[in-house]
Amino acid sequence: MILVTGACGYIGSHTCIELLERGYPVLAIDNYANSSREALFRVEEITDKGVAFHQCDIRDRMLLNRIFSDYSIDGVIHFAGIKASGEYLSEPLRYFSVNVGGTVTLMQALSDAGVKHMLYSSSANMYGQAESAPVSESARLSAANPYGRSKLMAEVILADLVRADPNWSIGVLRYFNPAGAHPSGRIGEDPKDIPNNIMFYAAQVAAGELDKLTIFGDDYPTEDGTQVSDYLHVMDLARGHVDALAYLFTQGKGFTVNLGSGKGYSVLEIIRAFERVTGLPIPYEIKSRKVADTPVCIANPSLATSLFGWKAEHTLDEMCTDYWRWVTMNPNGYKE
Ligand SMILES: NC(=O)c1ccc[n+]([C@@H]2O[C@H](COP(=O)([O-])OP(=O)(O)OC[C@H]3O[C@@H](n4cnc5c(N)ncnc54)[C@H](O)[C@@H]3O)[C@@H](O)[C@H]2O)c1
Repeated sequence: MILVTGACGYIGSHTCIELLERGYPVLAIDNYANSSREALFRVEEITDKGVAFHQCDIRDRMLLNRIFSDYSIDGVIHFAGIKASGEYLSEPLRYFSVNVGGTVTLMQALSDAGVKHMLYSSSANMYGQAESAPVSESARLSAANPYGRSKLMAEVILADLVRADPNWSIGVLRYFNPAGAHPSGRIGEDPKDIPNNIMFYAAQVAAGELDKLTIFGDDYPTEDGTQVSDYLHVMDLARGHVDALAYLFTQGKGFTVNLGSGKGYSVLEIIRAFERVTGLPIPYEIKSRKVADTPVCIANPSLATSLFGWKAEHTLDEMCTDYWRWVTMNPNGYKE
C-alpha cells in the first residue's frame, strides 16, 4: 500500500488515479489546508476503486504513528505542503513549519515504521534564477524565496538521511509547472489559497470571472518579450510519480530528477493556446516585470528518461483543453 500525503490536492489527487489504475492500493492523508475530501471521492468514482483516508496533519506524530501501525505501508509519496505565493513572504514560519518541520516529522514516522521508500515533491523553484536553459539537476541551487528555501531545506535533510543510512531509498522529484486536469473533467485544480499560475488566471478571464489577465513584463530577452516557462500536463506528472516509484522498488536506489516537458512556452503563447481551445478572447494588460524574475526556465528532463523511461507526452493545447473542461464542468470547483 502507498501512503500519499496531501492526496486531496491538485497533483496528489491526479497521482492517486495513476497509482490505482496501475494496481497500487492507496492510503491517503490530508488536513484539507488547501483542498477538500470531494477530490478523493471523485478519484474513487473515476477508478472504481476505494481509497483509505485519514484526515491528518503531517506534523501530528501521534496520529502518523497510529496510521503506520494500522496499515502495511510499502512506500510514501509526500505531496503535503504549502506553496501560495505572497503568503510565504508574510508568513515564512508557517512555510518552514509545514514544509520542513512536517517533512521531518513524517520521516521520523517512516523511520520508526521501517518504511524506506519515499518520493518527495520538490520544485524547479530550487534553481532560482537558472543560469542556463534547459536546466539540469546538477545546476547551482539558489532558492529565491521562503517557499523555495523550505523545499530546498527538506531536500538537504533527505540527503543527510540517506548519507546516515544508505538503506533509505528516496526519490526527489523537481517539478516544473503542472497544468491541465484529468481528461474526465471530474478532477482538477481547486485551491483555497491564491494560485500563482497563468492557466488558472487565463481560465478565470475566459469564464468571465476576471476582466483581463495581467502580464508582468514584455521586455524579457525572449522571442516575444514575455517569460518562458516549462509546462507539463498534470497527468504526465502523475505518471512520472508512478514510474519513479516502480524504479525505487525495483532498483532500491534514490535519485533527484527534473520532471518537466523540456519545452518552454511564453506567457503570450499560453494565452493564444487558451484562446484557440476555448474560442474566447483573453484580454490582457502589460505591467512592469516583478523583480528577480527569470526570463527562461526550462527543464532538462533527460535523467528521468534514462532512469525510468519517463517523458512528458501531452501538448500545450491538451493542457489548456483539459483545464478548460474541468473549469466549465465545475464552475464552483468541488463545491456543489
Ligand atoms: N503545483 C505546482 O506548481 C508545484 C510545483 C512544484 C512543487 N510543488 C509541490 O508539490 C506538492 C503538491 O502541490 P499541489 O500543487 O498539489 O498543491 P496543493 O495545495 O493542491 O496540494 C497540497 C496538499 O497538501 C495538503 N496539506 C497542506 N498542509 C498539510 C499538512 N500540514 N498536513 C497534511 N496535509 C497538508 C493540502 O490540503 C493539499 O491538499 C507541494 O509539496 C508543492 O510544494 C507544486
